[in-house]
Amino acid sequence: MKQQEESIRTVGLDVGTSRIVTACCDGAERGFESQLNAFVRIPHAKMAESMLHKENVPFQVQRDTIVIQGNEAQRFADLFHLETNRPMTQGFLDPSEAESVPMVKKIIETMVGKRNGSRPRVCFSVPAAPLNATESLTYHEATLRQTFDELDYEVRSINEGLAVIYSELEDTNYTGIGISCGGGLCNVALAYLSMPALSFSIPKAGDFIDSSAASVTGELATRVRIAKEATFHFNGHFTDKLQQVLTVYYEDMIHALIAAMKDAFSNAKRMPKLAKPIPMVLSGGTASPQGFRDRFEKLLRASDFPIEISEIRLARDPMTATANGALVAALTEM
Ligand SMILES: Nc1ncnc2c1ncn2[C@@H]1O[C@H](COP(=O)(O)OP(=O)(O)O)[C@@H](O)[C@H]1O
Ligand SMILES: [Mg+2]
Repeated sequence: MKQQEESIRTVGLDVGTSRIVTACCDGAERGFESQLNAFVRIPHAKMAESMLHKENVPFQVQRDTIVIQGNEAQRFADLFHLETNRPMTQGFLDPSEAESVPMVKKIIETMVGKRNGSRPRVCFSVPAAPLNATESLTYHEATLRQTFDELDYEVRSINEGLAVIYSELEDTNYTGIGISCGGGLCNVALAYLSMPALSFSIPKAGDFIDSSAASVTGELATRVRIAKEATFHFNGHFTDKLQQVLTVYYEDMIHALIAAMKDAFSNAKRMPKLAKPIPMVLSGGTASPQGFRDRFEKLLRASDFPIEISEIRLARDPMTATANGALVAALTEM
């Protein structure tokens, strides 16, 4: 019986617009894996198919095309000068994209896998509804649940900002504000003793920075993103135009995020009465450039913020905090 229990795989899953990340517990070690939430199509040929197979590139054949998904999609897009396709936009599955669900399913299936017939236990992250928006999360969450049913996983979900709190704020008994700055969205949650009090998202994050900078410099957004990820940092001496333009839109995003928090926290009816200052944690790919935390803190301290903040820290690993928090939730609640 014990043996059987131990073989059940428990996984924290971060389903993001740009990346899908898993956190797994293998013994005492925690392991992380990340795949781009993207795919690319190339024309089908028998020879190409058998070479991809030989090289262990994950792909599917669909009629006259070969579909390559995950991290390899980027490599093949670069090789053949194609844009990658993305199954999600601004944090959510796109109901008008018939292909998006099977793609996400395939990527997740490859990452979570299946072990000797036992049902994996998966806790997946869901974004919060956009601030002041009427649209709901129903389609996104229900569709993911249906997908997990088909894969025969045992699942539960966790709000993304709360997952960041689960990952990083054990020392304050999970009291504080968790923020994930990703590709499509910035997600914010405030929790008191692990209980979520308020959460929301704003549709301004990495993709917004890329497309805005691209429209100014006249480059492709994909190219801007690659340059941004490779070299962007705050407080640089700008030798090229792109760095300066990226700083402008980065600051625009930070201002929007702070303004949204001020709005949400001062108007919330269900805010807990906080006896002392609480910490704030920043995570996600967009929070990872050098100097981001410092710039964020400077702008937040200069704003008339409605809650007393004890410290602003960067997640230990900004790229895996959501998945790690989802794993903490799976291990404690499932
Ligand atoms: N080193 C980096 N510097 C700046 N931005 C980065 C870096 N690495 C990733 N990003 C950006 O982070 C975003 C993706 O973050 P992620 O947390 O994976 O988002 P999501 O949860 O939306 O998938 C993208 O906009 C990507 O360009
Ligand atoms: Mg994410």
